[in-house]
Formats: sequence, structure tokens, C-alpha cells
Amino acid sequence: MSTTCTSYVLQGIEAARCVIEADVSHATLPRTTIVGLPDMAVRESSERVRIAIENSGFEYPFGRVTVNLAPADLRKEGPVYDLPIALSILRAAGLLPPEAGGRLDRCLVAGELALDGTLRPVRGVVPLGVLARRCGIRHLILPLENGPEAGLVDAVSVWPARSLRDVVAHLSGTDRLRPVATDQRPESSPGLDVDLGDIKGQESAKRALVIAAAGRHNLLMVGPPGCGKTMLARALPGLLPPMTSEEVLELAQVHSCVGLRSGHAPVTVRPVRAPHHTASAASLVGGGTVPRPGEVSLAHHGVLFLDELPEFTRGALEALREPLQDRMVTVSRVSSTVRFPASFLLVAAANPDRTSPRRRGIDRLSGPLIDRLDLQVELRPVPVRMLRSDHRADVDSSADMRRVVVRAVERAHDRQGTVPNGMLRGEQLDRFARMRPEAEACLIEVLQERELSARAWDSLRRIALTICDLDDSDEIERTHVVEATGYRVFDQAVRGT
Ligand SMILES: Nc1ncnc2c1ncn2[C@@H]1O[C@H](COP(=O)(O)OP(=O)(O)O)[C@@H](O)[C@H]1O
Ligand SMILES: [Mg+2]
Repeated sequence: MSTTCTSYVLQGIEAARCVIEADVSHATLPRTTIVGLPDMAVRESSERVRIAIENSGFEYPFGRVTVNLAPADLRKEGPVYDLPIALSILRAAGLLPPEAGGRLDRCLVAGELALDGTLRPVRGVVPLGVLARRCGIRHLILPLENGPEAGLVDAVSVWPARSLRDVVAHLSGTDRLRPVATDQRPESSPGLDVDLGDIKGQESAKRALVIAAAGRHNLLMVGPPGCGKTMLARALPGLLPPMTSEEVLELAQVHSCVGLRSGHAPVTVRPVRAPHHTASAASLVGGGTVPRPGEVSLAHHGVLFLDELPEFTRGALEALREPLQDRMVTVSRVSSTVRFPASFLLVAAANPDRTSPRRRGIDRLSGPLIDRLDLQVELRPVPVRMLRSDHRADVDSSADMRRVVVRAVERAHDRQGTVPNGMLRGEQLDRFARMRPEAEACLIEVLQERELSARAWDSLRRIALTICDLDDSDEIERTHVVEATGYRVFDQAVRGT
């Protein structure tokens, strides 16, 4: 008899349905075969599953056992199929009561089995929950440790189990599992590492941080060591608006695919990733034979901080262009391509020293990369007398500025939906960035004077629009344009290289 159980195949951060069929037939030589494009880990599961079934107190069917993973054209990876394979074999062998089969048909199942029949956590259960919701399947059966993660997806009930035996008891109705209470995510405060109020001086850099947070503009800070670049970057997360529930779910999908945070409640604070400059292109943007998301995707909806930007390898810097442009990464493989989301706010810091023997400085960065950093600020060291003073009555705290940012973000949202100003393209800017005539005249004058490109035209309009939103104003005014033009300081520096 041939029976089925439904599980999933991960494709990037999305899960697709995978049906596990099992067939048991009489044969003089017992043998188990798995077909349907399994990788080595899946093929090895036949032994694991047989021993786990026996150690759980069931009898492994004697004869020829064939397991098929459909659709056959998608490669199946890893040990997630142990539990669904075990259940479909037990079902095919007639070892599950009929009502258990009926219950199994209403579930998506995944889990790795240890030899003693206990379950081990797997990757990708958040995408699995999203798949279940999309297909109208109400129940997920998963390893115990994956429960909290999967509980994030609402409208799906999650049944975490300790072992194969517990799953069979649940399906048979003899001993039901306890469901995870869904959608109970804790409210969280922003990852407030450095408070804006503790940073002395650097007024224009602090203003740039507020603009970056309000419009999600990428930011480049150039200044000598010790002037506070790292400190400023660490103040940025505390200025960003709270994550929406859609953003939380998307980020959880990424985390779930790398197996991060299984056993923990999902992250509701914007991520901050700060890879070292020795990071490879693959670790930054993702890749590998089994494609994994890279740093840019782990920073999805959060901040990617690249300190010492010019020290990164040319390959790594080149690889950043696609996610900066498209807000996602495409990883190609022999059989398919997968996409990972990568909508992050890039904050980069660089040392201006161009006289060093290795000649590493911002002049080493390519024009197209600099062009995608809307906000560029040059920092000078803060005078010692200012560092020593502890007078800070007139200083805005991060909490104050975050409120201003949130208001500006709401304004942009009412006008143009969820696309932040920093990601608006030319034709969208024509529609949304309404300018007073004198503001437009001023912008044109600056472009001609500095011989700037069309990219700079869009970039300046994006920044001016955010400054306008922060000012709670309906139309871009001349003062907004003037301030915006102050943030393209390296345009001249990179022209002609
Ligand atoms: N503007 C500033 N206000 C307060 N402290 C500062 C400021 N600039 C630098 N510092 C102090 O100097 C240290 C080094 O600053 P850092 O941010 O690491 O500089 P950079 O990254 O530019 O080399 C910080 O940990 C901080 O204690
Ligand atoms: Mg630093």
C-alpha cells in the first residue's frame, strides 16, 4: 500500500510543498530506497529512520520499502525528512490507526530523528509556517526546539514534539501534544547601544543619522580614527522606527533558514550586522552549494555596518552592488536560482588617509558604490575641551529623535506606501518629491555647477524629500535642497577615477 505525508523543500527563504510517498511490498530481501532527487543527508536517513522506528517500539516493515519525495525536480537537502519518512512508512505498513492517517493529512511535518527516536530541530520552519498558511493547512508537527520560532506565524497551530513516539500518540489520539501559543511576541525596545545624547559635537553627522533613519538612506562617514564614527554608527539602530509585524516575519524567515535562533522567540528588534573587513564576498551576500543567506540578508530590515569600508576586498565591494540596487540577492546554482531578501541600511566608515603606503582610502571605492551612498559626511575630531564638558542640557536623546523619525516615516508612508524615500527611483521621485519652483531652480544650479550625474539628481531629491518629511512640510523647499547638497561631499572626489 502506498501512503503519503506532506513536508517542505526550502528555496531561498521560501518553502515549497514536498509530498513524501512510501510503499511497502513483499520481497525476500528487505531493502529501503529513497528516490526523488535526495542529497546524501536525505539518502542516509533510511538507516536512521529504520533504527529510530525500531527504538521507538514499532516494527520496521519487512520487505521492499520505497520512499519517493515529490516533486522529483527539486533537490531535497538535509535531515528534515526523517520524521515525515518515518510516518509515511509506518502508515504504509498499516501501523497507524486510520484516524491517525486522517489527522496526518491535515498536517505539515518536519524533523530530524536521532537513533533513539527523539527529534532534533531543523532549519526553515518559519517559511514552513508561511507555506502552511498559504496552502490553508492548519497544523504543523515539529521538533520541540522549533516550536517558539514557528509560533510566530499566525493562523497556524504548531504542535512541537519530543519524539517519534509522541507524534504517533498525538496522531492516534491517545496522548495529545500541547500546541504552542501563537502570536505572543514580546514588545521590545530598540537595540539602543549608544545614545545620541552621549555623542559630543558632530552635529552634522548626528543630523545625517536622523535623515538616514527617517528615509533609510545609506550613509558614508569619513574621518580620522577616534573621531567617533563607530560610536555614531552604533547610535543608528536606536533611531529606527519599530519593526512592523510583516518585517518581523520576513526576518524570522531568514533566521530560520540559517538555523539561527531555533528555540528562541523571534527577533523583534532591528538587526545590526557588522562583518569584519576580511569577510569574503560569499559570507557577505550569501551563496554556497546549499545556498545560505549572507550578512546582507541577516541585516534585512536593519543595519549593515561596514567599518573601514576601503579595506574590504574588491570582490566583496562589487558583490554589494546587487543588494544595494535590488534589495535582494540572487544565488544561482546548477539546478535553480534562489533569492534572499536584503533590504538593509548600509552605514560605512572610512579613514581619509590617502598617504598611507598601501594607498587605501575612499579613492579606492568605485564610483557606482559611492553613488549608492546617498548621505556622505566628513568628520573632524571633536576638540578635547568639548569631549571633557558634561554639559548636555540642549542635546537631543535618541528617544526624542526617534519620535521625530517615526513621524517622518508615517508621513512618507501615507504618501507612497511602504517604500522608504531612500529606495525611490526616478519616476517615483517625479511623482512623490514635489518641489517648490525655487527649490528646483536651486537644485539644477548645484548640479550644473558641480557637473553632477543623473544619479546625483535622484539622490539629492531623495534626501531633500526626507528633510522635507522631517520638517513636516508638504513641498520640498529651497532650504531642504540646500541642506541636501551638503551631503554629497565625495562626488568630486570620485569623478575621474
Ligand atoms: N564625539 C564624541 N563624543 C563622545 N565620545 C567620543 C566622540 N568621539 C570619540 N569619542 C570617544 O572615542 C572613542 C573612539 O571613538 P570611535 O567611535 O571608535 O572612533 P572611530 O570609529 O572614528 O575611530 C569612543 O569610544 C568614545 O569614547
Ligand atoms: Mg572605528
